[in-house]
Parts: sequence; C-alpha cells; structure tokens
Amino acid sequence: MTSIKSKEIRLKKRPEGLPGNDDFELAEVVVPPVNDGQVLIQNMYMSVDPYMRGRMVDRKSYIPPFQIGMPLEGGSVGRVIESKNSGFTAGDHVMSMQGWREYFVSDGVGLNKIDTGLLPAQAYLGVAGLTGMTAYVGLLHIGELQEGQNVFVSSAAGAVGSVVCQIAKLKGCYVVGSAGSEKKTAWLVDEAGIDAAFNYKKTDDVIAEVGRKFPEGIDVYFENVGGVHLEAALEHMKPGGHIVMCGMISMYNAVAPVPGPVRLPYVIMKSLTMRGFVVSDHFDKLGAFISDMGGWIAEGKIKWKETVVEGIENAPDAFIGLFEGENFGKMIVKIAD
Ligand SMILES: NC(=O)c1ccc[n+]([C@@H]2O[C@H](COP(=O)([O-])OP(=O)(O)OC[C@H]3O[C@@H](n4cnc5c(N)ncnc54)[C@H](OP(=O)(O)O)[C@@H]3O)[C@@H](O)[C@H]2O)c1
Repeated sequence: MTSIKSKEIRLKKRPEGLPGNDDFELAEVVVPPVNDGQVLIQNMYMSVDPYMRGRMVDRKSYIPPFQIGMPLEGGSVGRVIESKNSGFTAGDHVMSMQGWREYFVSDGVGLNKIDTGLLPAQAYLGVAGLTGMTAYVGLLHIGELQEGQNVFVSSAAGAVGSVVCQIAKLKGCYVVGSAGSEKKTAWLVDEAGIDAAFNYKKTDDVIAEVGRKFPEGIDVYFENVGGVHLEAALEHMKPGGHIVMCGMISMYNAVAPVPGPVRLPYVIMKSLTMRGFVVSDHFDKLGAFISDMGGWIAEGKIKWKETVVEGIENAPDAFIGLFEGENFGKMIVKIAD
C-alpha cells in the first residue's frame, strides 16, 4: 500500500485557564507500514471530553498527563483499512483510545470491535460508550439510586447528565436538571421527559431555585459542575442522601485554588454520603451496562443528542467549546465518513 499521511493534533503548550487554539498544533506524519500482527485504522469520529483538560496539567493523577509535542489521546471509532492481524478484517469498526489523529497502526491491543449495524459508530463514544457507562455506574452504583427518589442533575443536557436524567426517570424518580440554555432545558423536559429543568445562567439565585424545585429535598445529587450547584445541593439534600461526585467542570480552568463549598458541614449534619468515582475503575459493571443500556435503546427509552464538529483541524475548538456550553449532548469530532 502506498504511504498514507495522517494529520494529528499535538499539545503545543500547557494551557493557563481556558485553553486557546495556540495551545494546540496540527501536524502531519507518514503512517508506518503495517507489519505482521498489525492493523491500519482510519478514525471516523473522536471524542473530546472535559477530563482531557486535567491531562493537560503536568501532575500525578489517575491517568498520566499529555506530553508537550506529542499527539493527544482519547476515545475514537474508526474502520480497519488493512489487517495483518487474524483478529481483524478490513472493514471492521473498532473503538480505541487513539483519537486526535486520522490514521494509526495498532497491534490490536486496546481495540474493541463495535457493531455499527446496531447503532451509528459515533454512539459508541456517547450513550453506548464510556459516557453512558459513567451515567449508569455513577447513578445506580455510586449514588445507590432507589426507585421513586428525588434526583438533581447538573450539566443535565450534557453527554453524561442527559443519560443520568433518563435512567433516573426509568427508575420512577422525580428528576430536575440544570443546564445553560433555554433550548437545553426545553429538550430535557419535552424530549428527555424529566420533571423540570432550569437555566442556571438566567437564574439569579440557584440555591433558592433548587429549593423551589425540591420542596421535600434531594435524595441523590449527580455532580458534574461544582461551584454554586454543589452549594445548592448541599443546602437541599435530605438527611442520608447521596452526592455522586462525577465531575466539577466549573473548576477545570481555574488558575488559582477554588474555595471549597461553605456548606460542606451538611455532609456531617445530614449524614450524607459524598462519593467520587472514575468510570474506568468500574469495568466489572460493563456487562450489566451493555445489557441494560442495549435494552433501553432498543425499546426507545433513552434519547441522546450529539454536537458534531467537522474536521480534525477543528478538534481543539470542539474541546474548548465544552467549557462554553457549545455542546448539546455528546461533543464529537467527525474525522472521516
Ligand atoms: N468520573 C468519571 O469517570 C467521569 C467520566 C466522564 C465525565 N466525567 C465528568 O462529568 C462531567 C460531564 O462530562 P460530559 O462529558 O458529559 O460533558 P458535557 O456535560 O457533555 O459537557 C460539558 C458541559 O458542562 C457545562 N459547563 C461548562 N462549564 C460550566 C460551568 N462553569 N458551570 C456549569 N456548567 C458548565 C456546559 O453545559 P451548560 O450549557 O449546561 O453550561 C457544557 O456543555 C464533567 O465534569 C466530566 O469531567 C467524569
């Protein structure tokens, strides 16, 4: 096969505050030949996710930091173009963590085949992938959700939040979501079927608004953003309630330490359980997730939205857009048809 050139996005420098386009660089490399045991993959879609901001910081964490001058990494789905590995055939669709590039050669480790006859390829980056699993594990296992409880979800129209909301409804819960636009709150109520939603950007007093939405208190708060949303939840949690610490996106671009919630003593006074998690520590739940989510999707019980940005060169913009609420549902970059 003639040599193929592949565009990739590299980290140029570590962002200060909100990342900018000048923190990234577009490069082109020649893809190496495919040796015995290897496969050549062309990426079709890649995921941009808030956690990637943490990997741009040079610090010890649950996942190593990105390196300056090296291509970024993340979830992607692509097709096998050439295979010299008996486990794969040209035309197979696979998921990998080799996003932010057009092509790559792999020995097959870390590639998972996906069935694009069942769902569109990009859904495996969202509702049917780690995003959906984050919602599932977080709500049902970390949050120990019970039927009929009162559930509050922040970033409710985002990739994880929108799935959390719908799983909670499937469990017969009263669900209220917060999101950053009227379009998002309308979708949550009219399409996703939750009980109420409010636009936190147009709400003078988020803490009072959450109180109005939960006159009897919150049993489970699914935390995606931090800041005033966490304060509001702590204020209105029922005794014995659960706070699922999934993410705190409002802090990810902070250039100085952000003060902790002043209402943290409520964790003691109300005997709350506040528990964080990283989805990759819960792969023992993968089978249950695939079975439950597959069933719900097949029955039309879960809806999802995607915001698709075209072209690998626009991947940094897609990533930056996460911090400005530009995505509705899962933010995805389309790399090739
Ligand atoms: N623990 C885990 O294993 C795990 C796995 C995946 C994701 N997460 C976390 O889960 C959260 C959601 O992730 P996602 O992939 O589903 O992203 P997402 O919600 O689809 O996208 C991010 C959204 O956050 C909202 N946002 C941005 N800045 C905000 C701010 N300052 N205050 C309030 N809202 C803000 C925006 O929506 P609005 O228009 O509503 O403002 C934006 O669309 C993130 O915190 C992420 O780090 C954790």
